[in-house]
Amino acid sequence: MTSLLIRHSRIFLPDGEFLIGDILIKEGKIVQIAPEITESDVTTIIDATGLTLLPGVIDPQVHFREPGLEHKEDLFTASCACAKGGVTSFLEMPNTRPLTTTQTTLDQKLHLASQKCLVNYGFFIGATAENLPDLLTANPVCGIKIFMGSSHGALLVSQESEIEPIFAKGDRLIAVHAEDQARILQRRQEFAGITDPAIHSQIQDETAALNATKLALKLSEKYQRRLHILHLSTGIEAEFLREHKPSWVTTEVTPQHLLLNTETYKKIGTLAQMNPPLRSPENNQVLWQALLDGVIDFIATDHAPHTLEEKAKGYPQSPSGMPGVETSLPVMLTQAMARKCSIAQVSHWMSYGPAQAYKIANKGLIKPGYDADLVLVDLDNYHPVLREELQTKCGWSPFEGWQLTGWPVITIVGGNIVYEKGKLNTEVRGKALQFGS
Ligand code: DOR
Repeated sequence: MTSLLIRHSRIFLPDGEFLIGDILIKEGKIVQIAPEITESDVTTIIDATGLTLLPGVIDPQVHFREPGLEHKEDLFTASCACAKGGVTSFLEMPNTRPLTTTQTTLDQKLHLASQKCLVNYGFFIGATAENLPDLLTANPVCGIKIFMGSSHGALLVSQESEIEPIFAKGDRLIAVHAEDQARILQRRQEFAGITDPAIHSQIQDETAALNATKLALKLSEKYQRRLHILHLSTGIEAEFLREHKPSWVTTEVTPQHLLLNTETYKKIGTLAQMNPPLRSPENNQVLWQALLDGVIDFIATDHAPHTLEEKAKGYPQSPSGMPGVETSLPVMLTQAMARKCSIAQVSHWMSYGPAQAYKIANKGLIKPGYDADLVLVDLDNYHPVLREELQTKCGWSPFEGWQLTGWPVITIVGGNIVYEKGKLNTEVRGKALQFGS
């Protein structure tokens, strides 16, 4: 088994401080952190002078499209994008084909991931109106995903009478895509015929999001059920949660809901179309404040790639979703360097926060005994997001042209280098994540 000594980096420690020093990794685990480590028996030594060492990112909401939608993305290309972006673990959503709604379809995905993924992986089981027994027993899963709105096919569970039994039985984490489907359908009729993609934010409006979030909270309180509200998009939800969020409820925000808004449609058209939609610039501010205040617990990308051809169909035929895993860490570190937040906060929101919420042991911190899932970033140089450098199969990013710092230089998964200075090590495979109860 390989051992690795990283020398002279600026190591981010669990107490929020930095230590300039060395870190020793053996058999995939962090063994020692010290100002200087003299160890001759190591396979690889990395001189990381000038670089900052952070825990690898855990992205708790991605759509990697395999099986069934591999023309958009697959587990290999998506995990390459993760490695390049410093994402060492991901939690993936069930809207693949077939849908991940049974043990059999979950096992199929786990098998594919074990063959193809450069980074660690975990999967949600998707709720339908009929699969309650599977929701209780499928294993290993990070949680149950309910699309309360904005989905079609069997994964849409939008009626309170269908949602309530899922909250009533079992104790697994329930993660909700909170949009009010009835309201969306009604507004789709009202705005029919409008092809400006900006109308998307009005059809799936703030009230649609708030209605569903309130319903999920009501059911969570009634059954004391662990609830996670995915991709919070509006200030009104954030302010509601500030007053009414019980201790067993968590929520997340995406970098795009923090930094892009309804103005973005003018620049990139349907590439800015996602669910829940981008909101006004004022919402960006309220979401930022809620994140800084701890009302919002962590960050997810909702990496949801679609091809440029699909996006070019024009609204409303264009599908919703945008990629994110290979830009999220530099996007957020660039915000930290602009003093909108601290590096410690970014690391908490992108590594330890998700590890805690999903009870993933020994990840998210740089600490002896923890897994060596790490990323060395360069905070001294700025480099633009360039389409030709992207690893995601869809081949575009909503952040193209943004000058970012904090790009990963080396990404390490389980003690193995998976990405180094523009090169991927495609021999490495990640592991299936385990989730505590
Ligand atoms: O915009 C989105 N696209 N939001 C989702 O929640 C699903 C996703 C997709 O799978 O394309």
